Amino acid sequence: MQTYILGIESSCDDTSAAVICNDVILSNVTAGQDVHRNFGGVVPELASRAHQQNIIPVIETAIQRANIRKNQLSAVAFTRGPGLLGSLLVGASFAKAFSLGLNIPLIGIDHLQAHILSHFIRNKELTNPVPEFPFLCLTVSGGHTQIVLIRDYFDMEVIGQTIDDAAGEAFDKSAKIMGLPYPGGPLIDKLALEGDPSRFTFAKPNIGGLDFSFSGLKTSFLYFLRDELKKDPGFIEKNKNDLSASIQATIVGVLMSKLAMALEVTRKLSPVGKFLDVAIAGGVSANSGLRRALEDARDRNGWNIFIPPFEYSTDNAAMIAMAGYFKFLKGEFGSQSQVPYPRAKGA
Ligand code: KG4
Ligand code: ZN
Repeated sequence: MQTYILGIESSCDDTSAAVICNDVILSNVTAGQDVHRNFGGVVPELASRAHQQNIIPVIETAIQRANIRKNQLSAVAFTRGPGLLGSLLVGASFAKAFSLGLNIPLIGIDHLQAHILSHFIRNKELTNPVPEFPFLCLTVSGGHTQIVLIRDYFDMEVIGQTIDDAAGEAFDKSAKIMGLPYPGGPLIDKLALEGDPSRFTFAKPNIGGLDFSFSGLKTSFLYFLRDELKKDPGFIEKNKNDLSASIQATIVGVLMSKLAMALEVTRKLSPVGKFLDVAIAGGVSANSGLRRALEDARDRNGWNIFIPPFEYSTDNAAMIAMAGYFKFLKGEFGSQSQVPYPRAKGA
């Protein structure tokens, strides 16, 4: 049976719509929002307004590109949270009206679960491997940093998380300190390609267990640059590649050492004592340094790794449609009275 789901994502500053047929994506359309560039971060009020402007054209394009008619859709799935409330409300309200208008079920999706479930999207040939349960996922975005143990599609447990800044924030705040525009993560990644990662060292956070802390790193970077700028006001400009490579290597190093620890701790869950499969998800999973580090660990330690394609790393509706399909199969539909939630529910 062909099940067509429309997915809608509007939790932060990307308006996205996608159509999935069972577990194969037919279209995935995203409109970004340049209005935040000069503000050094996302301005919630402006984000809601831009979603309101973009949502209809983005959805129309997604349905057109999928080459289906609206009345072929089996359900509409939307991001319920976590995210900016005003932004979430735009997607939720549209999805409710659409579900009423077409008389199809409405499915509310958790954004963080959807990032993880993006690993189950199949290519048209259905040949790409997908992770085996139970597996681990390092979810790293602008708002979250978590290590999640996934036992089944919707049976997820957060086993480690940040106690302060998220990894994406560590990238973005470091970039801001260097005078780079928002979002700085992709810019640091680009500058780092031409830099020496061992040129500068910064204090690594010292926090036990599987939790993370990034706020100290940001402060250490800030103080280091403040001291250097006193000696040479052109220090950042002259060293921007090495600075980017060094801060990126520090953040990636922290993520990788906690992931290695988590794989060791969860080894007992594998029937044959192997490492569990390991995936990465969220905006920072687009980082080329993190991707390389993971590939290295695969080659050196035999990790079975899953890295999402770039279009499913940062915010996208394909992952919402994918999660929607799994809920559709379970018959888990939401009511017209469900409301968005701004904070994480703990995966
Ligand atoms: O998942 P996402 O698109 O939105 C949230 O749910 O937060 O993640 C956005 C975050 C931003 O902090 C952005 O700087 C970071 O992901 N990011 C990157 C890269 N691409 C996006 N960070 C480092 N390197 C990248 N290539
Ligand atoms: Zn996200």
